[in-house]
Amino acid sequence: VLAIFQPKLLAGRKLLITAGPTFEPIDPVRGITNLSSGKMGFAIARAAREAGAEVTLVAGPVHLATPRGVTRIDVQSAQQMFDAVLPLAPAQDLFVATAAVADWRPAQSSAQKIKKDGSGSAPSIAMCENPDILASVAALPAPPFCVGFAAESENLAAHARAKRLRKKVPLLVGNVGPATFGQDHNALLLVDAEGEREIPHNDKQSLARELIADIARRLNAKQ
Ligand code: CTP
Ligand code: CA
Repeated sequence: VLAIFQPKLLAGRKLLITAGPTFEPIDPVRGITNLSSGKMGFAIARAAREAGAEVTLVAGPVHLATPRGVTRIDVQSAQQMFDAVLPLAPAQDLFVATAAVADWRPAQSSAQKIKKDGSGSAPSIAMCENPDILASVAALPAPPFCVGFAAESENLAAHARAKRLRKKVPLLVGNVGPATFGQDHNALLLVDAEGEREIPHNDKQSLARELIADIARRLNAKQ
């Protein structure tokens, strides 16, 4: 009953979020990508909108419906995601990077399909590094409150602590359990300057609501 008199936690706030994988073309019919369903990012976008935020969701190639009231921008490659995010970032209160961005792309992508030459040999694909979207936003002169994500295959807490410092973000969220890709349940490890705490195993929408409540508390404490 009391809840209806409470102002929404993120009312009047602007939140920008990346989600899903990126796809880096080799030629018109092939590419490299990362494993990510985008479910956690979409769940966070939905939870932020429910909490009253104005939400912009920059999504890589995923098969998910846009949460109600959320502005969605679809991209394919890391460079396209970077180009969509950076101009919007300075006006945001919050930036949440859940996307599984491909770290490298083919240095050249062929305009035509690469054909087998019949010799039995395979082409080598030279790669170059993609821009780091989260680190670039965090390095803006007046950055939004930045939240990074990390999916690690081992030593989650140690990697998450190191990654938080390397990216210079106040909060880094680790996916607990290695194989969360595409699943509807997960647990989260929140790492900040003070230490860490876990949001226990739950469905992704419940985790997203808890995470948004936590982030809103940090933002409202800051101002
Ligand atoms: N990220 C990003 N742009 C990139 C790479 C990563 O914005 N080019 C973001 C991810 O969305 C995530 C965070 O940075 O929020 C950490 O991504 P992760 O891949 O775990 O870290 P990396 O710095 O790429 O390190 P590594 O993959 O070697 O562990
Ligand atoms: Ca990476």
